[in-house]
Amino acid sequence: MESVKTFIFQNESFGEELKVYINELVDPEYGMFTWPSAPVLGQFILKHEHECHGKNVLELGAGTALPGIVAAKCGANVILSDSSKFPKCQENALKSCISNNVESRIIQVPLTWGEFTPELLDLPKLDVILGSDCFYNPNDFEDIIVTIAFLMEKNPNCVFWCTYQVRSSNWTIENILKKWKLKCTHINLSSFGGDQENLGGHEISQKHAIQMLEIKMF
Ligand SMILES: C[S@@+](CC[C@H](N)C(=O)[O-])C[C@H]1O[C@@H](n2cnc3c(N)ncnc32)[C@H](O)[C@@H]1O
Repeated sequence: MESVKTFIFQNESFGEELKVYINELVDPEYGMFTWPSAPVLGQFILKHEHECHGKNVLELGAGTALPGIVAAKCGANVILSDSSKFPKCQENALKSCISNNVESRIIQVPLTWGEFTPELLDLPKLDVILGSDCFYNPNDFEDIIVTIAFLMEKNPNCVFWCTYQVRSSNWTIENILKKWKLKCTHINLSSFGGDQENLGGHEISQKHAIQMLEIKMF
């Protein structure tokens, strides 16, 4: 079953609400549903609009692509990516790009974490990488970070903004980041209004478990 969820963000610099329409499908694939980390990252992007305007932004594991679409609405040139194994995710995200009139600012590429494919090697210069709820399976953690480390080596000034849901207190990426010469800063959600009960007009489930990191090269 297909449905459209409307997210309504408030931002002073727009002087009005920012509405984002997201296509969702009832489907066993994780990327057909907007996870609670996504509106939190959307809110951060909106507050850092000036760092996105005119910049090249890549979203990893984009799923329904709420953060990437917010970045496009803030004037970024956006590359939406998801695993090459889930082309239906990208087809679904394209419908949302069209509903939000941002398809001219967006391209889509299949990128599977840890795979050095021609699509990864051919990416243009990047300023920002986005990832919402990509760290949910510890088996993938190093593959994600290897992909980030490769892209940062090519784009030394690039930043990776990621939100995630803590699902186990035993999981950590800090050692893997160190191994790949990346450093991370925890961003307090209250510093950008990401700690609100309701973001984009929807109650955020698991709000207490959502964290945000900014990752850069050493
Ligand atoms: C929990 S969902 C998060 C989706 C979306 N970012 C959000 O927050 O709503 C994880 C996403 O990662 C994608 N994914 C899973 N394994 C992947 C892999 N090995 N490489 C790239 N993307 C992957 C899934 O297709 C899905 O879109």
